[in-house]
Amino acid sequence: KRDIISIADFNRNDLELVLETAAELKNSPRPDLLKGKVIASCFFEASTRTRLSFETAVQRLGGTLIGFSDAGNTSAKKGETLADSVNIISSYTDAFVMRHPQEGAARLASEFSSVPVINGGDGSNQHPTQTLLDLFSIRECQDKLDGLKVAFVGDLKYGRTVHSLAQALCHFGAEFTFIAPKALAMPDYILEELDEKGIKYRFSDSIEETAPQVDIIYMTRVQKERFDETEYKHIASRYILDVDSLKEAKDNLKILHPLPRVDEIAVEVDKTPYAYYFQQAENGVYARQALLALVLNEVV
Ligand code: CP
Repeated sequence: KRDIISIADFNRNDLELVLETAAELKNSPRPDLLKGKVIASCFFEASTRTRLSFETAVQRLGGTLIGFSDAGNTSAKKGETLADSVNIISSYTDAFVMRHPQEGAARLASEFSSVPVINGGDGSNQHPTQTLLDLFSIRECQDKLDGLKVAFVGDLKYGRTVHSLAQALCHFGAEFTFIAPKALAMPDYILEELDEKGIKYRFSDSIEETAPQVDIIYMTRVQKERFDETEYKHIASRYILDVDSLKEAKDNLKILHPLPRVDEIAVEVDKTPYAYYFQQAENGVYARQALLALVLNEVV
């Protein structure tokens, strides 16, 4: 069985196969592809987009769903281990989609599941399906993936989507600009990986100065709970993308964000041709349809 646990498990060919499959399913819907399949959607942690786009993906492919979005209402509350829950649920399903607050939970689940496990996010560790929809969206809005200049802004330390996307883009020779407060800088282990792979990167503290030089700005949310109020206001106000900061932007620039956003992208930006974050979120359905089809060996 093929589990989807970490983006590091994907080589360039694997990534391209998922993107091609997603494009095929976006262009030609397949309402019967998962007919007769039962997919578990088990979210032990809050989610809007990941859960609902997975569930839409299953339904639009003709599959059926079981699962929960509130683990407080399951036997986990009585002390049942994740291993036991997965063991049982996988015995009557064809694939197991999960999100869990603990790093490594999806890997652990895959050891006890008789069917493919798809990681919908495990703590601050990995969010591989988000990376696949990010890559799909980048390719869609830039017509290519190779040799792009990508700026990451905001919380580069705890943001699991940033780490996974930077790692995946290494397969396509990207160049990076990192814009983050010191307290939320890209972790050393990622920078060491980039050094080993010969990937070029630089640091900046200005979105405005970076916008004319890059193809993609990937915004992230600064997590309020990690700072006291004064520090949070200082940090968050320095990393807001507004219309003014796009005055000199490249024509082809697109702004992505895994969402949810708080204040880091001014709502006025939504109406500019640079905004691509809502199309990006919609693409979650196609990327997740592709993954489900591939792990279940359905031919698209
Ligand atoms: N991007 C993302 O993972 O959103 P949710 O937390 O709403 O699933």
